[in-house]
Amino acid sequence: MLHVENLKVRYGAITAVHDVSLEVKEGELVALIGVNGAGKTTTLSAIAGVVKTVSGSIYFEGQSIVGKSPEAILKLGVAVVPEQRDIFPSLTVEENLHMGAFSRHNHREYLADLKETFILFPILEERFQQLGGTLSGGEQQQLAIARSIMAHPKLLVLDEPSLGLAPKIVDQIFSLIVTLRTRGSTILLVEQNVNRTLDIADRVYLINNGRVEIQGTPDQLRSQGAIKDIYLGK
Ligand SMILES: Nc1ncnc2c1ncn2[C@@H]1O[C@H](COP(=O)(O)OP(=O)(O)O)[C@@H](O)[C@H]1O
Ligand SMILES: [Mg+2]
Repeated sequence: MLHVENLKVRYGAITAVHDVSLEVKEGELVALIGVNGAGKTTTLSAIAGVVKTVSGSIYFEGQSIVGKSPEAILKLGVAVVPEQRDIFPSLTVEENLHMGAFSRHNHREYLADLKETFILFPILEERFQQLGGTLSGGEQQQLAIARSIMAHPKLLVLDEPSLGLAPKIVDQIFSLIVTLRTRGSTILLVEQNVNRTLDIADRVYLINNGRVEIQGTPDQLRSQGAIKDIYLGK
């Protein structure tokens, strides 16, 4: 579904991504892990079309998306929930969700989607008329994910969805990701929460200094001891 080959991205003189190749197949939950500054967000930003690539290719469903606008990439079915959860704080939960459904013109479909959303995110039904900015961090993260799902993406990309959340809320977010995957979503997940990510991912890429250092199944990564080396700074 998604093929990234030899991706290179630079911010001015800084090369943030040197050489990243990765693949996400339909129905998979693929994780990108790596320490702070490894180049995970930059990789996602290139996929989303919000940063320019220096070289390399990105194909989504066989079509090159390098150079396409973020709107065009979203329309093709790639939805990215960024690290900073960009919900609209001065709009209600209802209005935020409605923005996510912008591409769905049929009101009946919209209502059906809302019903589904409330099953996955019961708290959003309770908070339906509240302003986005008044929600807790965990609720805002749920709203950001729910809003993306309203657009029925083919590929859901999540950048550190558990960042800064209390442990109990982190549990909820991880079980939500598992639920989404079980329901058939294809997911590319960036996480720093390595152990929990290895518990749920189908395949994992470990990025270090802008390069894919190791890739494999969670079991393969665990057995190599590679994770420890990188995270203990060896
Ligand atoms: N907008 C930017 N301008 C300049 N350098 C950046 C910018 N964003 C990220 N970087 C740098 O690029 C590298 C990779 O960052 P990033 O992709 O955010 O890593 P990660 O998401 O893995 O923490 C880091 O060295 C970071 O400082
Ligand atoms: Mg990041």
